[in-house]
This record gives sequence, C-alpha cells and structure tokens, in this order.
Amino acid sequence: MKILLLGKNGQVGWELQRSLAPLGEVLALDRHSTEFCGDLGQPERLVQTVRDWRPDVIVNAAAHTAVDRAESEPELARGLNASAPAALAQVAADIGAWLVHYSSDYVFNGQGAQPWQERDATGPLNVYGHTKLEGEQRIAASGCKHLIFRTSWVYAARGGNFAKTMLRLAAERERLTVIDDQHGAPTGADLIADVTAHAIGRVLQQADLGGIYHLVAGGVTSWHGYASHVIAQARCAQPDLALQVREIVPVPTAAFPTPAQRPLNSRLSTLKLQQAFGLVLPMWQPGVDRMLAESL
Ligand SMILES: NC(=O)c1ccc[n+]([C@@H]2O[C@H](COP(=O)([O-])OP(=O)(O)OC[C@H]3O[C@@H](n4cnc5c(N)ncnc54)[C@H](OP(=O)(O)O)[C@@H]3O)[C@@H](O)[C@H]2O)c1
Repeated sequence: MKILLLGKNGQVGWELQRSLAPLGEVLALDRHSTEFCGDLGQPERLVQTVRDWRPDVIVNAAAHTAVDRAESEPELARGLNASAPAALAQVAADIGAWLVHYSSDYVFNGQGAQPWQERDATGPLNVYGHTKLEGEQRIAASGCKHLIFRTSWVYAARGGNFAKTMLRLAAERERLTVIDDQHGAPTGADLIADVTAHAIGRVLQQADLGGIYHLVAGGVTSWHGYASHVIAQARCAQPDLALQVREIVPVPTAAFPTPAQRPLNSRLSTLKLQQAFGLVLPMWQPGVDRMLAESL
C-alpha cells in the first residue's frame, strides 16, 4: 500500500510518520519538499503529485492552524483549509484513493454543555472554524472515499505546547491566571496518529466505515484544570523542580481578548468512533502525564 502524508512536520504529521510506517510505503511531504510538491498553497502541483505517485491513501495533516492570524488572512486560511482539501478530494475521487483529513471542534458554536455529536448542527464562530467546515463539506461533496476526524486541544511532546508554557510561567511567577470557562479534552497527537492508522486498516477492509468522526481523549477539563493538572503532576514527578507558582487563578475567556472568538463548549462525543472501530479512547490525563515525562 502507498500512503501520501502531507504536513509531515506538524504535531499530528510528525506522529503519523511513525504510526503509518507499518502500513506500507509512506511518502511524507511538507511545504518545502522538492521532488514532489507538498504545498497546500499550490493545489495544482499538489494534484500533480497525487497523479504522479498514485497513493492508495492520502493523509492530510497540513492546515492553516493559526486561529487568530486567520482572522486577518481569511483568503489564505480558506485556500489551505478548504480549497486545497477540495482539490485533494477531487483527485482522490478520480484515482479511487482514500482521503484522510482532520477538522476541528471549532466547526461548532460552543453553546451548551453537552458533548457535540457528528450529526449536530455546525455554526463556526471564527474564520478558522468556517474554513475547516468548508473543507469538510467540500470533501464530502466530492464523493471520494474519506475519513474526517474532528479533534481539539491537540498537544505533542515535540515543540511548544500549552503545558510547557504553563510550566515556564510557573517557574517565573507566583500567580497564574488561566481561563476556566472553555471546556474540552487535551488530545495527544500520538493518540490521533495511532487511531488514524488503525482506522485506515479498517476502512480498507470495510469501506462503509468511511465518514466523519470525533476523535479526542476521554474526559473533560478547562484550561485552568489542564494547567493545574500539569503543575501538580510536574511537582509530583520532579519534587526538586523550581516552580514559583503558589496560586492558579481561574478567569473567564473575556480576561484574555483575542482576535478570534473561541467556543466555550469544545466537548466532542466519541461514541461513534469507538463503536465503529472497536476502540476505547483513554482519559486525557495519562497522555498529558506521558508527554510531561518526555518533556521534563
Ligand atoms: N492544534 C489543535 O489544537 C487542533 C485542534 C483541532 C483540530 N486541529 C486540526 O488537526 C490537524 C493537525 O493539526 P496540528 O496540531 O498537527 O497542526 P500544526 O502542528 O500547526 O501542523 C500544521 C502543519 O501544516 C503545515 N502547513 C502550513 N501551511 C502549509 C502549506 N501551505 N503547505 C503544506 N503544509 C503547510 C505546517 O507547516 P509549517 O510548520 O511549515 O508552517 C505544519 O507542519 C489540522 O487539520 C488542524 O486543523 C488541530
């Protein structure tokens, strides 16, 4: 089997390089790749890559993920998050390949406190969310065989992340203020990549499993709960760690105004995924603890 991976150096893309490897031959590209084009900003060349290499599966982990910047560059965000996936979907349909793509809890309006289900009405609050939703819709409309995973609050051991930022601030300050009215589940890029590989194996045997799924770790917390867990866990794992912080103060979203409005309710129900693929999604804490153990 031949798998084309786009966005190989992103949080999820990096982990996919590992998890997809046992499935077959993987061609992993980023936007700077030379022999084959992996730039979502050049959809015609991207399509040519697909036509030339003829993968059985295309996994698109690349995206415009700068949520606040998307507000001031909506055309660029739309090009990368909607037009490029649409072009990939069209060529996937033409050659009979599967397209695996990632979307976001930001397709929802964040109201209420119930976990969103796949069939719930969408209503993005910001440019990023609108472009991710359009990407989903254009893939579905293309008629290609596809898997779309909506995820949220993604972290990875590699590179910067919220947990590392909290630890840095906790080393510098006695008092931290952290948002406590947005709710979701921190989800490891490694978990997303592993589930993706498992699901690809399954859909190749049973094509009617294709479609859209929510993919997040189990449980729910707020950014404040997440930060509190990270700091407590770091203290427990490394008692001699020099952390100044004495107080982690919960504050509302309004305390940190940003260009893009964020949804308050990012809870995603994963029942459909768990039932379709016979998986159990672990609670969010063990994955965060493991990432901390690798990072500390
Ligand atoms: N991060 C989250 O919390 C989150 C939440 C919900 C959904 N998602 C979705 O999950 C997927 C994976 O996200 P992630 O967290 O792994 O994001 P990420 O770490 O920001 O990775 C995105 C990758 O896309 C690449 N990229 C940007 N512009 C490109 C272009 N023109 N051509 C090719 N590649 C380009 C980036 O490359 P450069 O480094 O060179 O810019 C980066 O490697 C995305 O679809 C995202 O929308 C993420």
